Amino acid sequence: MNPTQEKLKVQFEQALVAAFGADFVGIDPILVAASNPKFGDYQANVALSLSKKLGKQPRIIASAIVEKLDVSQICEPPEIAGPGFINLKLKTAYLEAQLNAIQADPRLGIPTAKTPQREIVDFSSPNIAKDMHVGHLRSTIIGDAIARVLEFQGHDVLRLNHIGDWGTQFGMLIAYLREVYPEALTTANALDIGDLVTFYRQAKQRFDADEAFQETARQEVVRLQAGAQDTLHAWKLLCEQSRQEFQLIYDLLDIKLIERGESFYNSLLPGVVEDLEKSGLLVENQGAKCVFLEGFTNREGEPLPLIVQKSDGGYNYATTDLASLRYRIQQDEAKRIIYVTDAGQANHFAQVFQVAGKAGWIPDDVELVHVPFGLVLGEDGKKFKTRSGDTVRLRDLLDEAIARSHTDLKARLQEEERQETEEFINEVAKVVGISAVKYADLSQNRTSNYVFSYDKMLDLKGNTAPYMLYAYARIQGISRKGEINFKELGNNAVVLEHETELALAKYLLQLDEVINTVEQDLLPHRLCEYLYELSKKFNQFYDRDRGVRVLDAEEPQRTSRLILCDLTARTLKLGLSLLGIQVLERM
Ligand code: ARG
Repeated sequence: MNPTQEKLKVQFEQALVAAFGADFVGIDPILVAASNPKFGDYQANVALSLSKKLGKQPRIIASAIVEKLDVSQICEPPEIAGPGFINLKLKTAYLEAQLNAIQADPRLGIPTAKTPQREIVDFSSPNIAKDMHVGHLRSTIIGDAIARVLEFQGHDVLRLNHIGDWGTQFGMLIAYLREVYPEALTTANALDIGDLVTFYRQAKQRFDADEAFQETARQEVVRLQAGAQDTLHAWKLLCEQSRQEFQLIYDLLDIKLIERGESFYNSLLPGVVEDLEKSGLLVENQGAKCVFLEGFTNREGEPLPLIVQKSDGGYNYATTDLASLRYRIQQDEAKRIIYVTDAGQANHFAQVFQVAGKAGWIPDDVELVHVPFGLVLGEDGKKFKTRSGDTVRLRDLLDEAIARSHTDLKARLQEEERQETEEFINEVAKVVGISAVKYADLSQNRTSNYVFSYDKMLDLKGNTAPYMLYAYARIQGISRKGEINFKELGNNAVVLEHETELALAKYLLQLDEVINTVEQDLLPHRLCEYLYELSKKFNQFYDRDRGVRVLDAEEPQRTSRLILCDLTARTLKLGLSLLGIQVLERM
C-alpha cells in the first residue's frame, strides 16, 4: 500500500464509523487501483462487501459512505459507479505537491523500513575446485539485487557466500593430486582453475572405479577433518586457487559477499546430530542417522528420511545447512534468512526447514525463505552449453557480452558519425555488456527458465538494459542540450496539465510500492517491469506528436517539465542501482 492509499484508508475508516457506528471500526475499504484510468485512479469496493451485513443495496451504502467521506485534500469528489463502486480520482494539486516533495529528497520520497531487521541473503555459493556455472551466475545476480533492495530499505543485511569447500570430495581430490601432481598441494598457484577442474573430474572417475583408491580418499578426509597439517595446507591451497577465480567474476559484476563456506560449520556438526537425538527425532536406518519427514515419500510411497549422518560417520550438505541455520539464528540473530538457489534444491530446503522446525530451532519471529530460480537455456531451448557440450565458463560468457557490446557500439558510432575516445568506448562497452547480462536475468520472473541470447539482451529496443540505459542517457542529453543543471530547477515548480504529464507523474509516484513488493515477494522482475513502463511513459511524454514540448516550452511549463525529466532520470538511476546496474551519462 502506498502513502496515498494509506491516507485514503484512514478517511474511509472514519467515514464508515460515522455512517454506520463504532462496530465498523477497522473495516477494510478494499481499495484497489482503478481498472481503467477513465474511471479515476482508485476504486473502493467496500460497499459491495457490506451489503449482506447491512442488508442494504450496495449503491445506498456507497452514498452513505461518500456523504461522510472527506478526501477533498487528495481527490476530486468521489463518484459512485456500477453496482456500488466508489471511484476516486487524484487531484492534480495533490500530485503536484507529491512530486514537489520527492524532488528535494535523494531517496525520492521512499521511507526506510518501519522495523529494520537483520536479514541474511545466502547467495552465489559456488563450489571449490569446480567451475562456477550459469546457475551460480543467476544466484549471484538475483541474490545481489535482493540484498540491494533490502539494504536500501535500511535492513541490516548479511550477504553470505555459502561456498562448497568441505566434504568427501576433497579427500578424493587431495588423494589424487598426491599421486599425480604433488607440487599442487604444497605450492601456491601451481594449478590454474581449469587444471583443477580437470583433475577433479579425473579424481572422480578414479574414485568411482577403484575401491582401494576410495579407501585412500576416505583416509584423506579423516585427516582433513582431524586437522592434519599437510592435508589442511593442501586444502587451503585448493580453496585459494578457486577463490581467486571467483573473485574475478565478483569484481567484474561488482558483487560484495562475505565468504562463510561449509567448512566454517564443521565443528558444529556433531552438536546438530546430538541435539536431534535429544529431541527424539533421530532414527537409525541402515546405519545412517536420519529424521523422518512429513509430506515426503519415495516412489513406493514410503516415508522419506533426511540423512544427517551417514553410516561411515560422515556428515552431508543437509547437516551443514542445519548447523548454519542454527548459527544464523542464534549468533547472527537473523530475522529472515533467504536462500537463493536453483529450483532443484527446493526439496532440500523444505526438508531442512522442516527438521529445524520440528527440533524447535526456529523462533516465531524468524522467517526462512527459499528463493528458487529456473534454468538458463541456450537458444536451442536446451540447457545452456558451449558448442562442444561443456559448461560455459562465466568469465568467457561475460567477456563475450562485453565484446559484442563493443562491436555494436562501434557500428553505432560510425552510423552516427561520432568520434569518441578508446577509453569512452571501452567503458561504455563494459557497462552495457555486464548490465545486459544482469538485466536479462533479472527481468524474467525468476521462477521460470529463460533463454540466454546475446542478441536479445543487447538490443536497444525492448525490455533490455541498453534500452533503459539509453532512456537515462537521453534525459541527460536534454540537460546538456539546454545547458540545464537539473539540480537547480527550483522548488514547488511542478504544474501538470497534459495527459502524458499526468500519466508520467502518477507513475513516478509508484516506485515506493514497487520496492515494497520486491521486499516481500523477492521478485526483482517487478522492478524491471516498473522501470520499463516508466521509460515508455517518459517517451510518450517527450514525444513531439503525442507528448509535450520541453526545452522550447513557455514558463512555467518548461521548468515543470524539466523537473519531470529529472525525476524520471533519478528514478531510473535509483531503480537500476537496486538491480546492480550502473547508468551512463552518455552512451
Ligand atoms: N554450493 C551449493 C551449490 O552449488 C549452493 C549452496 C546454497 N546455500 C546453502 N546454504 N545450501 O549448489
